[in-house]
Amino acid sequence: MSSILIVNGSPHANGCTAAALEEMTGVFQAEGMETHLLHVGNKSIRGCISCGTCGKRGKCVFSDDPVNEAADLFEKADGLVVGSPVYYGSPNRNLISFLDRPFYSTSFSKHMKVGAAVVSCRRGGNTASFDVLNKYFTISGMPVASSTYWNQVHGFTAADVKKDLEGLQTMRNLARNMAFLIRAIADAKEKYGLQTVERKFFTSFQDGKQ
Ligand SMILES: Cc1cc2nc3c(=O)[nH]c(=O)nc-3n(C[C@H](O)[C@H](O)[C@H](O)COP(=O)(O)O)c2cc1C
Repeated sequence: MSSILIVNGSPHANGCTAAALEEMTGVFQAEGMETHLLHVGNKSIRGCISCGTCGKRGKCVFSDDPVNEAADLFEKADGLVVGSPVYYGSPNRNLISFLDRPFYSTSFSKHMKVGAAVVSCRRGGNTASFDVLNKYFTISGMPVASSTYWNQVHGFTAADVKKDLEGLQTMRNLARNMAFLIRAIADAKEKYGLQTVERKFFTSFQDGKQ
């Protein structure tokens, strides 16, 4: 059975972002996909301190928050949905701290796991936040699922989001597209195998040479 890890960056387990993610979860369940929901917005999650220990251990040096546990779930998952409220035109800090660490610290391949970002705002800052979240996927070889509009809902409370009928429709279409992509990629892996990924070069111009 295909599985999808869903991460809610909001501190509100029943807030606006949760309402959007629940709409998607209903579709995943109807499509016979397993979901695992993690709430990270109400946890104390520190940012990456760039210590480099993960380069040797293959996981983050800190284990006092849900990052390493989430990394294990991410490794097993076929897809990752990240949802965030918009804070001053960006995804909220908890979610950013949370995403930086498993994406940076783990060595397992994220290649061809499907990603989808969802943002919730009252008025604005949604597309800038959406862009930030999508970059985790596109730097990792993860195909990005899309929908019939940018993946956003509007509201200050979950009740507001329930009235955002187009936003909820966007979530359902996003979940259907994501389920389709996950199945299509599984079939393609069987038929063609995974393509080669080159990782020979890591150019940072420290010495002025290639
Ligand atoms: C610190 C903070 C900053 C916010 N900044 C914005 C913003 O820039 N734009 C906006 O439209 N809403 C902003 N909001 C409102 C929330 O993003 C919005 O109500 C969101 O839907 C709440 O989602 P949640 O219930 O899942 O937490 C902000 C809220 C907080 C607490």
